[in-house]
Amino acid sequence: MPATVEPTSVGPTPVEAASVEATSVDASVEPGRDGSAPSDVPAAQTLRPHAEDAFAAELAALAAQDDRPRPARWRLSPWAVALYLLGGTLPDGTVITPKYVGPRRIVEVAVTTLATDRALLLLGVPGTAKTWLSEHLAAAVSGDSTLLVQGTAGTPEEAFRYGWNYARLLAHGPSRDALVPSPVMRAMAEGRTARVEELTRIPADVQDSLITILSEKTLPIPELGEEVQAVRGFNLIATANDRDRGVNELSSALRRRFNTVVLPLPETPEAEVEIVARRVDQIGRSLDLPAVPEGVDEIRRVVTVFRELRDGVTADGRTKLKSPSGTLSTAEAISVVTNGLALAAHFGDGVLRAGDVAVGILGAVVRDPAADRVVWQEYLETVVRERDGWQDFYRACREVTE
Ligand SMILES: Nc1ncnc2c1ncn2[C@@H]1O[C@H](COP(=O)(O)OP(=O)(O)OP(=O)(O)O)[C@@H](O)[C@H]1O
Ligand SMILES: [Mg+2]
Repeated sequence: MPATVEPTSVGPTPVEAASVEATSVDASVEPGRDGSAPSDVPAAQTLRPHAEDAFAAELAALAAQDDRPRPARWRLSPWAVALYLLGGTLPDGTVITPKYVGPRRIVEVAVTTLATDRALLLLGVPGTAKTWLSEHLAAAVSGDSTLLVQGTAGTPEEAFRYGWNYARLLAHGPSRDALVPSPVMRAMAEGRTARVEELTRIPADVQDSLITILSEKTLPIPELGEEVQAVRGFNLIATANDRDRGVNELSSALRRRFNTVVLPLPETPEAEVEIVARRVDQIGRSLDLPAVPEGVDEIRRVVTVFRELRDGVTADGRTKLKSPSGTLSTAEAISVVTNGLALAAHFGDGVLRAGDVAVGILGAVVRDPAADRVVWQEYLETVVRERDGWQDFYRACREVTE
């Protein structure tokens, strides 16, 4: 998961996965095929359904009307995958919601890469939707976004290869039955998309175990004198954070196996407001929070503050600003607004106001209590205070800043 704690983030963290596993030990409940959730929990009940479940209707409509050629084992043609990601309307009038807001070309290159023999590396600063895009790509291409390896400093080689069920191993010796395949191994055997999160946090020698998989498309199992050869349709999407550069540099041998796509920050304030409003609406609905339209002005203000501080200059280009140490990403704007909506719903009148987002903004901006506080106060006094129609916002921020 991201370095920043980001409640709206996607994908099970190792901790989440572990706790789900711990609760599914109950023998009467059959765990799902990946052990991630009991299979009899309907998707509507899960706190955060996988992309392929949340957007099952859109994916089915696309598959039904997609008459373009599909690469082996793809659920959709590359054209339909791009349409799923960027949004649009199908001939029968079905509306496909945009998942990724950004340059069309980026999506086209990413989708095309998956249809070649090169893997895809999504690179970018925190909160630029690397994980999000990777999940939706896997969902659209393979109908399954769960073949996931979470990269950390402690990720072992087994996470890419295989492990052993020791009880079976000791009882019967090494056999296919005793082998526990990694998500990557399963993706190879089934011709699906595997995902690796935060590739550059993984120690270099472990990263290198991906080289054979990506170049030879095979995974040897010396203990059994066998190998698993990748089936057509297999590919891999990795994400890496720009800010982690230098933690564990990607070896050049491994980098050559990837096509790199750099995800940019949203180009315009309007695009960023749209992303935040859309995601907050989705998250809010799953948490039964009030609808967003009431709060769109407040969203615009949060996005404006984040962008100005991030860019180090006011939107009109007139005043130079110091930037705080936090990333102030779109993802953080999403959590600030979601938390604000929850405050408004539970302790206010359900309408998002300045007072509901002020605490969240302060928390996102002031990461370093000394230096960032000065930056924030200067911004409040020189920019926010003077801005027409921002008096309520200024007062709300002052109140929590003291
Ligand atoms: N261009 C965008 N289009 C759609 N959603 C976006 C965009 N940028 C950010 N988001 C939203 O931001 C949230 C966080 O994105 P995500 O977790 O994928 O970021 P990330 O790049 O993986 O960050 P990190 O480097 O911290 O892991 C997601 O909910 C996603 O919807
Ligand atoms: Mg991520």
